Amino acid sequence: MTDLLADRREALIAAARIAMDTAYAPYSGFHVGAALLFDDGAIVTGANVENASYGLSLCAETVACSIATHAGRRGGLLAVAVLGGTGGRVDAAISPCGRCRQVLNELAALGGTDPLVICVGEHEVVEMRLSVLLPNAFGPANLA
Ligand code: THU
Repeated sequence: MTDLLADRREALIAAARIAMDTAYAPYSGFHVGAALLFDDGAIVTGANVENASYGLSLCAETVACSIATHAGRRGGLLAVAVLGGTGGRVDAAISPCGRCRQVLNELAALGGTDPLVICVGEHEVVEMRLSVLLPNAFGPANLA
């Protein structure tokens, strides 16, 4: 049996890096790219989209989850790669913000997966499962 995540890991990180360059972040200047890997090998990306009303800005992970959900995905989330920085460079590794952890959990919970979150920095990579970032999550099962 092949290890899909191992096979697609570099492509996932590369996709997040490409997505980062499509960020609309004129206010913070901090560009973030995210890439989601699904169990059919598909990769769905997103980048942060800011707003003149600052608090309405959307993070890269939330944009990626919205695109995937709109495309009909309801689970199958195996991994997430996220990276960000200023001036077109990747800075230190960042992990998804609290709201994005909850948004990721929705897609993960629908398929019963615990995705690996790969936080890519200029000099380091930090990995952890989503359940470590968001223990005891509230999710779809609580409303069933
Ligand atoms: N940002 C993300 O896109 N993802 C995160 O997980 C953390 C923060 C964005 C939001 C805002 O556009 C910029 O980074 C600075 O906070």
